[in-house]
This record gives sequence, structure tokens and C-alpha cells, in this order.
Amino acid sequence: MKKRVLKLTSMIVIVVMSLSMFVGCSSKPTSKESSTTKPTTNSTTKSKTTKGVDIGIVLPTKDEPRWVQDETRFKDALKDTDYSVEILFSQGSSAKEKENVDALLAKNIKVLIICPHDGDAAAAAAEAAKKDGVKVISYDRLITNTDAIDYYVTFDSIAVGQAQAQYLVDKASGTGNPLYLYAGAASDNNAFLFFEGAWSVLQPKIADGTFVIKNSNEAIALQDKATLTREEMSKIISQVTTNWDFNEAKSKAEAHLTVAKAEDKGDVFVLAPNDGTSRSIADVFKADTDVTNYVITGQDAEKASIQYIIDGKQSMTVFKDVRTLVKDSINMTLLLLKGTVPETTGSYDNGKIDVKAKQTEVIVVDQENVKAALIDSGYYDAKEFTGLD
Ligand code: BGC
Repeated sequence: MKKRVLKLTSMIVIVVMSLSMFVGCSSKPTSKESSTTKPTTNSTTKSKTTKGVDIGIVLPTKDEPRWVQDETRFKDALKDTDYSVEILFSQGSSAKEKENVDALLAKNIKVLIICPHDGDAAAAAAEAAKKDGVKVISYDRLITNTDAIDYYVTFDSIAVGQAQAQYLVDKASGTGNPLYLYAGAASDNNAFLFFEGAWSVLQPKIADGTFVIKNSNEAIALQDKATLTREEMSKIISQVTTNWDFNEAKSKAEAHLTVAKAEDKGDVFVLAPNDGTSRSIADVFKADTDVTNYVITGQDAEKASIQYIIDGKQSMTVFKDVRTLVKDSINMTLLLLKGTVPETTGSYDNGKIDVKAKQTEVIVVDQENVKAALIDSGYYDAKEFTGLD
């Protein structure tokens, strides 16, 4: 079954000059810990005199800075609206997510913006919302195998993977460069899109001998195939998944380096799916005395990773401007509340239907442009970092 972009044109904005739109942002780094038992965080941005809530927002976990940043951005974007909003976190649990949606439906929400913990499992929540006549916007991650979603607001996730892979390619010279692959959670459709994008750029460079895969016999078995099916990607992702978990990323990297011989190390190249896992994996590679240098990818431009980039401990990140995603979903929501059909830019096949989508581009950030892209532009405050100049 295909759950990939059908009609969207993937575009990577490598260096961006027009960053003047970026103003003040905050992302609170928090530690990743077991999250299923934590209570749901509930924040209502506006209490209305009438009973009920207009817009319900459900985010996957508070344990990753990425989603805390989204919450902050939603609050910023909605503080001047007359609509009431409630934001709930699912803490990495599909059961909690469904409870959250049910709680919001009981408050008569009219639009649900939901970033699923698990794309397939969230179908039940979307279906409950649809049954109640609520419009459902899948946010960042696609809810899969259901017709109960109205819209999808997302970054160009294929482009994220392509940008990560291109960075590795650009930094590699000669042949036989050791390549270590890591992926996101298989329950997240984005993990497939990131991997698909990365594979499209890496595979020709594996085929021509530039890179040699060191940590996945499933990937090695498929290395001659330019395009992988979902099932084939599944095999690789299952083997090298981090499950978006910092600790799992760390122990997996440790296990890989324990079995790798000294000649599988040296100057290495690491495809890490996002910033949190990149920092964990980078720490492991840095600590290995047989690793003389590593180039490692990331995404999200989390503050902790920006410091890692400044310090030379993480090579790059893919900056996804959460404000744009939030703005797009809020604009869409306001139109839906007024009964207007929002504009979209393409569609994604979620396994059941083509979901109309609005997509945002991404920006590559490394030591070269970190100051211009994230500090000079006002996205982060220089005071939050050390060693910038
Ligand atoms: C998001 C990434 C995030 C990852 C882990 C993905 O679906 O697109 O931004 O780092 O989930 O939460």
C-alpha cells in the first residue's frame, strides 16, 4: 500500500535569504522519559462565557521540545481570536489520544487539529469526530487508513529526508565512506516519507560506492533498488528505528558501534531522523575512539541541537518553521468555522483516500548559516546560546 505524496512537488529551500518573517520563538528542551503515565496537560487559551470549546488541538507528547514549541506557537497565534481553544497532549499513548478527542467532542468542538501519536490508531479518534460533524485537520503527521480526515497541514517531509541525505552526500568524498542509517517510529507516516526522501538521494551514492552501509543488513539487501515499496522501507525502518526515543537511539547506536570493526568507523556519515535522536546518536559516535569524524543529520532546529551545531557536535538540522504550520492550520480552521472551503496545494494518499493538503517548505541549517537563519532573523535569541561568534 502506498502512503506517499502523490501530487505534491517536493522542494528543498537550501539557503534562505528571506528570513525577515522569523520573529521570537521559544522551545523548551525537556528530557525524554516514559510518557504514557503522565497526566494530560490541558491548556485553554481563552475562556468563553458560553459553554464549550470551538477548536480542539491534540499533540503527541510534551516530552519532545518540538511539540512544546507547537503548543507555544498555537497559543501565540490564537491569543487574539474570539474562538475558544483547548490543547491536549497524548503523551505517546493512542489510548490517551482517543480520551483527549472524546473529551473535546464532549465540549462540542467544531474543528479538531490533531497530530497523531500513531497514524493508524488515530483513525478511531478521527472517525468519532467525523460522526459528531467535526472537521478534522491532520497536523504534521498524517492519520492513515481512514476517510475521516478533511485536511492535512504539513511540512514537505520527503524534502526533509532529501535534504538530510544531500548534506551527507555533499560532505563525502572518495569511496567506501561508512554510512549508518537511523529512522523514526514506524507508527508515524512521516518516518516513511523522511526515509523515502533520504533513500532517493543516498541510494545512487551507495550504488556508486561513495557510501557503504554499516548497520542494517535489511538496507544492504535492498541497496540496489532505487525506489523502495512501503513494505521494503518497513523492513529497514523496523531494523534501524529510534521510535523517536532518545534512549532507544542511544542504545541502538551503542549496539551498532559495539559490533562494528575499527575499519567500519573512521570518518563516518550518519542519517539521524531528528534532532533529539541526533544528539543521542552523536554523543555515542563522539565517545568512540575509533570514530575520527562524523557527519550527522537532524531536523526541527531544537535549541539544544542549535547549541550542538554551534559546538560542532551535530552537523546540520532541517528547520521547520512551526509558526507557518500553525498559521496555515489556524487559517484553515477559521475558514472552516465560517463554512468556507480552504485552499490546498496538493493531496496525500493516506491508504484510504487522497487527503487535501497544504504543505510548507523546509530550510537546511548548519554552522555556516545558523546565525543568519536562526539568530539574526530573530527566531532565537543569541543569549540562549554560547560560542556563537
Ligand atoms: C515530526 C518531526 C518530529 C518527529 C518526532 C515527526 O512526525 O515531523 O518534526 O521530530 O515526529 O516527534
